[in-house]
Amino acid sequence: MKALRITLLCTLLLAACSKTDTVSFDYSINSPDGTLTAYFGVTPSGEPFYKLEREGKTVIAPSRLGFELTDGSDLRSGFVVTDVSFDSADETWQPVWGEEREIRNHYNEMLLTIEQQPEGILPPQSGVSATDPDYTGDPGNPSGKGAVIRLRFRLYDDGLGFRYEFPLENKLRYFNIAEELTEFAMSGDHIAWWISGDYDTQEYNYTRSRLSEIRNHSESMRLGNASATGFSDTGVQTALQLKTDSGLYINIHEAAVVNYPTTNLLLDDKHMVFRTWLTPDAEGVKGRMQAPCVTPWRTVMVVDDARKVLASRLILNLNEPCALDDVSWIHPVKYMGVWWEMITGKTQWSYTWNLPSVQLGVTDYSALKPHGQHGANNDNVRRYIDFAAANGFDAILVEGWNEGWEDWFGCQKDYVFDFVTPYPDFDLPALNKYAHEKGIRLVMHHETSSSTVNYERHMEAAYELMNRYGYDAVKSGYVGNIIPYGEHHYSQPVINHYMYALQHAADHHIMVNAHEAVRPTGLCRTWPNLIGNESAMGTEYRGRIDPGHSCVLPFTRLQGGPMDYTPGIFEQDMSITAPGQTGKMRHTLANQLGLYVTFYSPLQMAADLPENYERFPDAFQFIKDVAVDWDKSLYLEAEPGDYIVTARKPRLETLNSGRLSGKSGAYEFVYKDGREHDVWFVGGVCGENAHEATFSLDFLDPALLYEAVLYADGPDADYETAPQSYTITSSVVTAADKMTVKMARSGGFGLSLRSL
Ligand code: NOJ
Ligand code: CA
Repeated sequence: MKALRITLLCTLLLAACSKTDTVSFDYSINSPDGTLTAYFGVTPSGEPFYKLEREGKTVIAPSRLGFELTDGSDLRSGFVVTDVSFDSADETWQPVWGEEREIRNHYNEMLLTIEQQPEGILPPQSGVSATDPDYTGDPGNPSGKGAVIRLRFRLYDDGLGFRYEFPLENKLRYFNIAEELTEFAMSGDHIAWWISGDYDTQEYNYTRSRLSEIRNHSESMRLGNASATGFSDTGVQTALQLKTDSGLYINIHEAAVVNYPTTNLLLDDKHMVFRTWLTPDAEGVKGRMQAPCVTPWRTVMVVDDARKVLASRLILNLNEPCALDDVSWIHPVKYMGVWWEMITGKTQWSYTWNLPSVQLGVTDYSALKPHGQHGANNDNVRRYIDFAAANGFDAILVEGWNEGWEDWFGCQKDYVFDFVTPYPDFDLPALNKYAHEKGIRLVMHHETSSSTVNYERHMEAAYELMNRYGYDAVKSGYVGNIIPYGEHHYSQPVINHYMYALQHAADHHIMVNAHEAVRPTGLCRTWPNLIGNESAMGTEYRGRIDPGHSCVLPFTRLQGGPMDYTPGIFEQDMSITAPGQTGKMRHTLANQLGLYVTFYSPLQMAADLPENYERFPDAFQFIKDVAVDWDKSLYLEAEPGDYIVTARKPRLETLNSGRLSGKSGAYEFVYKDGREHDVWFVGGVCGENAHEATFSLDFLDPALLYEAVLYADGPDADYETAPQSYTITSSVVTAADKMTVKMARSGGFGLSLRSL
């Protein structure tokens, strides 16, 4: 292995030298604390390059920048630098909800303008060649300029963001991208936590391997999801987590993907160079651009401690500030759902077996024989509302409430749901009234079956229905192949659909939690009504989820925004939850408690069935108590795939706001005797190997005593043999104490700390 690695490094160095030894890196910036330096330069033939160093050592070796356009224009060379300016910022901003109350945005910026000479560049629109004898100038380009690109580099202490900007004074006015050619040249054969490159899904387990081994693993990653489109054996998705042999953690992702396709990364594993690989639209175009416009930010985080990856706010900081004037209607949500019983097969989304082909508006459901297993029936929904109200939750999601589930999947139907017509046994007005009387909101469900055209067609009426009956949150879903046919979940037109749905929802004061949509890139800063996304393999995969999956996601998927992972599964054996079904989940019960703290989401579900929680009321107490919106977050221990231990202090003003607040039992927990207690929650999870967490409580107020309640794996706990073995112990602790907590394989713990 060592010999192989030396060979690879030599190959890499040779490749780098032969291509880039003539780059003159004349422009650079340092991060505010001087740790990172980003360089930009061009070769004598005008090829733009950048590189990134940390404390003088290479993180990203010289890497190309540029594009190829569908009209053959080559935006990779012939550039000269015509301007450079520098700027910096050091400000704090307050997220509407988040892992902390204030976020510092502190960077140095370098903005370069590069221009290709006008000669030799084809006019973009006219179809007339500049060399044509009849050519008398380009009416599409009154600026008379060549292709002009601005490259904006923002360097933070923990990473780099850069993007391409296309100003109006430009040869490039309307242009189509064949490929973005941004490279990320690796400095070695790093360890990577990766999922296969795909245009349609992120619902995969992660593989940990050397970069050079990605090719050998890729086939095993194709799991046969409802919609999956791979493109290469060395294609991977972002956020990509890497670790170097010298112990640096590098994370490559993107921020603020707006009106542009999502990128995958394609690895040239001979030279260890990644490059962007955009998702094509139905005609193979990888971005239809109109100047002035910008690309998403390309991001490279680099830190020397895994905990700093979790603490980084790089992606959020690179997004635009909140676009909404009034955010008073946006609130955290702790919810349950008439959902897990469908996922596990105990009940169904559909109403009848007697209807192989639904004609919406024509089919008369009341004339059909129900199969008797419809989960979203009035009695069952009331049962959930009662349980949620009795245990202090905010909301109940109800899936399968609307007509169309008999042929929703696999049929590639355009007109699949109308989003407004309930099944005969779901009394929408009465159930909402019942819920509201008990302080509960119903969460709407809009499964689109990926027919985005159909969703847009019905969206206004669907949101109006929600407004009329007091729904303020929707879970949308995009299962299956996208309609319009040939589009992909991550292509530009579909990215624009998600944004359309989000902005339109904001107009209606509706919060959105989209499943199977594109993985987030920090847009929740700008649109805080995006309170959740799935966009990764979540609990619904049950026994197929690898131990350790939840120890990778905070490093990858959650870098872009919160995940509706749907934790809280106390019954791992599916045959108990849903008689007749098989399969076992691979985690301990205490692991599920830890997830409420290690996974940040302002939208947290207690996903298991009420009857499963009733069997473990003492452990359920932690789910009731734990907050979902935070004043501060501290990352006490972390290693991707192996373990994460996080401590968080609730935002008291959210809990005390009087509005729905993700409060659950925590509301009384905090204010039990009328005083404001100082409260912290700590959660831990670990992967395939057991882990002993050791951490100091020095984040507590040294002047106070705290009651600590620890929900931990029992001495014999094991995800295969004793997943439901747990212990609950109370003690009095101070800031001077240290805690040691043993986590079983795929185990975890929850700890609540309240000042006395
Ligand atoms: C997939 C989603 O992830 C899941 O939560 C939902 O229940 C089904 N689609 C049906 O919409
Ligand atoms: Ca899903």
